[in-house]
Amino acid sequence: MKVTIIGAGNMGRAIGTLAVRGGNEVELMDRDPAEARSLAEELNASASGGGSAAALDPDAEFGGEVVVLALYYPWIDAVRQYSDRLGGKVVVEISNPVDFATFEGLARPADTSAAEQLAEALPEATAVVKAFNTTFGRTIVAGEVAGQPLDVFIAGDDDQAKEKVTRLVEGGGMRAIDVGPLRRARQLEEIGFLHIAVQEPLGAGFGSALKLHW
Ligand SMILES: NC(=O)c1ccc[n+]([C@@H]2O[C@H](COP(=O)([O-])OP(=O)(O)OC[C@H]3O[C@@H](n4cnc5c(N)ncnc54)[C@H](OP(=O)(O)O)[C@@H]3O)[C@@H](O)[C@H]2O)c1
Repeated sequence: MKVTIIGAGNMGRAIGTLAVRGGNEVELMDRDPAEARSLAEELNASASGGGSAAALDPDAEFGGEVVVLALYYPWIDAVRQYSDRLGGKVVVEISNPVDFATFEGLARPADTSAAEQLAEALPEATAVVKAFNTTFGRTIVAGEVAGQPLDVFIAGDDDQAKEKVTRLVEGGGMRAIDVGPLRRARQLEEIGFLHIAVQEPLGAGFGSALKLHW
């Protein structure tokens, strides 16, 4: 599968690593093209599993059927900029829209989620899937915590889109858990905030994972 990642930062690196590990063809785009090139080189140097990575110019069309928006919330300016190129894609929204001014909760309104806001901002034929907000970058690169493969919670209204994101997750050796429609992203964002908030008291250093056992 071809996967485009917008934002060559921590999560661009993590999800890029996962995607290459799963044999996917990854396109990396960043507002600084040098960042995208450098990450593509890094991912190719450590590639296993038949996948590959290449840098994409900021004004190029997105080739991926899945596009990961690996940007900080609010990403609305970037979404406006890329909106025409995102129409018809599966767009993965990964943010934890934390209110960094107070660190008391989330910066988005209580009656929606960043993922639902994204769906409203994009052309109608675009399927938004919430995923990866509860998994920290370094744990995705490792693929496991305490010997257990990571759980990636996914929410969305389009089953085919969720199936593609599931393939991306499971191809990289992690477990996808479908938690329901896109509005479940509200709860995923709340639990993502909680997971961030306990890092310091636990001294977990962004190395912990949220996992379901049953
Ligand atoms: N880090 C984690 O462990 C983690 C875990 C779960 C979810 N998340 C979520 O993942 C998202 C990304 O986090 P991150 O830690 O990867 O952030 P990051 O390291 O800051 O990476 C974001 C990258 O995107 C670039 N960028 C910013 N605006 C852009 C635009 N309009 N077009 C293209 N590239 C652009 C940034 O460039 P500049 O450096 O020039 O700004 C930076 O290289 C956030 O929403 C965060 O809440 C993060």
